[in-house]
Amino acid sequence: MSRKGDLKAEDDRLVSARAAADEGNVETGLRPRSFADYIGQGEVVERLKIFIRAALERKEPLDHVLLYGPPGLGKTTLAYVIANEMKVGLRVTSGPAVERPGDLAAILTNLSDFDVLFIDEVHRLSRAVEEILYPAMEEFALDIIIGRGPSARSIRLDLPRFTLIGATTRAGQLTSPMRDRFGVVCRLGFYEERDLVRIVTRSAAILGIELDPEGALEIARRSRGTPRVANRLLRRVRDYAQVKGPGRITAEAAREGLRLLEIDELGLDPVDRRLIATMADKFGGGPVGLDTLSAAVSEEAQTVEDVYEPFLLQLGFIKRTPRGRVLTAAAYRHLGRRPPARLVREDAAQPALWDGTGGE
Ligand code: ADE
Repeated sequence: MSRKGDLKAEDDRLVSARAAADEGNVETGLRPRSFADYIGQGEVVERLKIFIRAALERKEPLDHVLLYGPPGLGKTTLAYVIANEMKVGLRVTSGPAVERPGDLAAILTNLSDFDVLFIDEVHRLSRAVEEILYPAMEEFALDIIIGRGPSARSIRLDLPRFTLIGATTRAGQLTSPMRDRFGVVCRLGFYEERDLVRIVTRSAAILGIELDPEGALEIARRSRGTPRVANRLLRRVRDYAQVKGPGRITAEAAREGLRLLEIDELGLDPVDRRLIATMADKFGGGPVGLDTLSAAVSEEAQTVEDVYEPFLLQLGFIKRTPRGRVLTAAAYRHLGRRPPARLVREDAAQPALWDGTGGE
């Protein structure tokens, strides 16, 4: 299956952490603009607030920031908040969109002093583009080669002092010179349940949706620790409550709406369940290599690794071992099956279900 085809299928998932094509406008409306409105990621926010305050007091640009972690956790949102708190402009682009060094040069020369340049999927920048980004980040200068052959010469162009915010789901894929040039590195983790309750409650207020606290909890619980998923489930459950229910999102309406959407009580959708069922049925619970497993479920290895696995790992349903992925007893139980005896003992020490703490 082509990569494009896979991503399309992934984008159609209700619990996809990636933004759907038509979701941008709604997301923008819900996005917090300042730390005062920003919920969750306590430690990251605390550190950023200190660095921003220090930079503002010194009248310097904020150091370059790398944000990494699974999709849907608000890397773009944080970039908006940072620019807003610094009271500077924000320019948003992504690694694959910056095709040639000239594209980056055009962006950099159009920034104003202290502006934030946000590059999503920063691990996908080409080497040639990275090469010109290094002096830009370190010395706020562009080295441009004019002419060819023996008469070629390099001229140096001064740039505004800017802050690069790079975002990636795969910090391991960044080249080390790139990683070393970020002064601030923040890992975003899955959100805690109580933070997701606050996020959907805030979103419901903005969208004019009546949401009971128990309805909010029901949605938060099934949002896989991800605000983007929580906000999407909120909108779908609203449709259900409007057509079939009392108009208001009660616990009952949320449960019933989510049942129809085939989202289970842990937030797994049919694709997640197929993945773990395949591991149980075709591979005896593993170990199974990523490529073999991906082929068995007709998905790209990268999609499995970036999109499906992080939350299943977080739940303690799968483990990564040097010999491949293995399914845990908790996953068997979630599928309503008896785990193989060898797993039961070893799994006794593991938490059976996600405790909603969103931690490491
Ligand atoms: N909407 C999406 N992410 C959010 C967050 N972290 N805080 C508040 N609202 C949000």
